[in-house]
Amino acid sequence: MKNRETFSSGLAVFFATLGSAVGLGNIWKFPYLTGQHGGGAFLLVYLACIVFVGLPVMLGEFYLGRRTRSNAVGAFEKLAPGTPWKNIGAMGVAAAALIMFFYSSVAGWVYFYLFKALRGDFAAVTMESAKAQFGALVVDPVTPVVWQLAVLAVVAAILVMGVKKGIERITKTLMPLLFILIVACDLRALTLPGAADGVSFLFATDFGKLSAAAVLTALGLAFFKLSLGMGCMITYGSYFTADNNLFATGAKVALSDTLVSLLAGLAIFPTVFSFGLEPGAGPGLLFMTIPLVFSQMPFGSVLLVAFFFLAAIAATTAMLSLVEVPVAYLAEEKGLPRSRAVMLSVAGIFAVGVLATLSVDKGSLLGGYTFMGRGFFDWFDYLSSNILLPLGGLLIALFVGRIADKADVARELSKGSPAAARLLTVYFIILRYVTPALLIVIFLSSVGVIKL
Ligand code: PHE
Repeated sequence: MKNRETFSSGLAVFFATLGSAVGLGNIWKFPYLTGQHGGGAFLLVYLACIVFVGLPVMLGEFYLGRRTRSNAVGAFEKLAPGTPWKNIGAMGVAAAALIMFFYSSVAGWVYFYLFKALRGDFAAVTMESAKAQFGALVVDPVTPVVWQLAVLAVVAAILVMGVKKGIERITKTLMPLLFILIVACDLRALTLPGAADGVSFLFATDFGKLSAAAVLTALGLAFFKLSLGMGCMITYGSYFTADNNLFATGAKVALSDTLVSLLAGLAIFPTVFSFGLEPGAGPGLLFMTIPLVFSQMPFGSVLLVAFFFLAAIAATTAMLSLVEVPVAYLAEEKGLPRSRAVMLSVAGIFAVGVLATLSVDKGSLLGGYTFMGRGFFDWFDYLSSNILLPLGGLLIALFVGRIADKADVARELSKGSPAAARLLTVYFIILRYVTPALLIVIFLSSVGVIKL
């Protein structure tokens, strides 16, 4: 491959990969699910899922990418030419696009809320007006579409600059900033009266709440959090430095990502409890509760801007990795110049993503169009998170664990790390038996074939 770019150092590899993992998932999904499913008990299960499913698949993707120096489709084509295995890569490209259809929509709301926070829209906000502002946004046929376009324009502008000057430079600057902003929000939140209730909501260990559904949730979350099962880590792995220690990168990224999630939980829940609010789920928490609580505390307006800015950073760096999957595919397999591959990907995402944006709520312009009880937004989310990601992860585990040459996998994984050789035996046992078994269970239960 002529002039194929790579990241320039181990630090760049770390920040880019962490940038993909850290996203909207850390800011609302992780803290809320942890609190709801038994705090510390859920956390233990989540960590086990990371170790037994997340990391093995992640390392498998790193192997596929760096070994072949190819995009998600090309990687399989190089290792198993002329076989149907390359469809895993094609499925990954499709999954990345599906995720982007709705992720860019939610990211658009985040950008808009950052703008609103800067403009001072939340200065005298009340519970009713916070709800009304969000309610008006999701049924508005113009504003969220414009912000979705703005988000995609930012992502495109960064990606056009390339792997080093675009992805590497931006993630290396923004990830440390995100960390500082989140710690600043934590310091304020944890010194509020009543903050201890929020901390105990997150950490109180209650094994009684740990149902089978909670275990499945933890497994699905580990997958989504670490951007697995759709070729993101194959594509980024293909840009890793030749001597990067893949075991160490995987472990550092998983740990840091979990730390960011916990820090986000520590900023959100003490605040929510201190103001006596319900820790409600999903976008509602982010867009209705946060403006309300932050606007009522000293330095709140500054923190509100900081909070939506860090959410915008998280969403943007995750989207860089999502859009890079089709970009690398189009550039390498279809021979398009990089800038054209970026434009085509973003235009396609916008064209279909508008359908998601306009169908979020029953009152939205296209909210009336449903198929089997789901609108566009929900279908994109369901098909990607519940079907394509676990299926992709399973197939990747099977390919790397059973089809690829074991010595070749072992060689790639122990590059730059003599100590890694000792982990290989355990790694293969987990990848061949434990990971597929657990993935088959979540996959079957998520499509409703078995009930846990
Ligand atoms: N990991 C990102 C988050 O937590 C989401 C994501 C999923 C990014 C899949 C890339 C691929 O928000």
